[in-house]
Amino acid sequence: MQNESADRSQNYASWALPFLADYIVNTHHAYLKENDEQIAAYARKIAGVHGAHHPEVIRIAAIFAKIATDMTAHLKEEEEVFFPALKRADAARIAGDTPDAHDRETIRVSLLRLHREHVEIGDAVHEIRHLSKEYAIPGDVCNTFMVTYQKLKEFEDDLHKHVHLENNILFRRQQSCEQITFCPPALHWNISVSTVVLLTPLLVGATEEYAKETGQTCAACHSIRAVVAN
Ligand SMILES: [Fe+2]
Ligand SMILES: [Fe+2]
Repeated sequence: MQNESADRSQNYASWALPFLADYIVNTHHAYLKENDEQIAAYARKIAGVHGAHHPEVIRIAAIFAKIATDMTAHLKEEEEVFFPALKRADAARIAGDTPDAHDRETIRVSLLRLHREHVEIGDAVHEIRHLSKEYAIPGDVCNTFMVTYQKLKEFEDDLHKHVHLENNILFRRQQSCEQITFCPPALHWNISVSTVVLLTPLLVGATEEYAKETGQTCAACHSIRAVVAN
């Protein structure tokens, strides 16, 4: 089974765009819709039962509740706006036509927003991992606590695959069509909100390096620079 999934992952880049978009929806969006509410409920429960001795779970419950809310809107935009526009533009290109101008603008605007939201959700998951000490289960807790941490880890693993398919394969194809560029995704994925000010000089440096190498600038870093400059 592991070899099968490794083979599949190596082939993602060769999949037709509509098939890849549908795969993301049927696999990763379906996972989120099935699990988000349950994980949020578990996190709330352990915050109530164990919050006095393990205050980090109160913060984890609050962060996860926000992730679940933000994720609902994020998935809706991908499924109802972004992926349909992507599919239409792809079909037009395959037919040798120019994609509809409205679709191209929808894609450009959504791409920037969705990319930024991936960074924000990644930061939030990173904070949960940090607060939970890499999902280490304390010795004085109940089964629900254990299940919650297992589910949170499973959530993070699924999210990494999901965002990888979108940022590195699906979005990148469209970026090259629309000439929108980002720094290497790892730069964005690894930063946390609390360290953004410390890392900003590094990000700016990386962006300038990237611009020098490619002659293009990173749309996501521009927004970080704008926020810091304000
Ligand atoms: Fe998605
Ligand atoms: Fe996404």
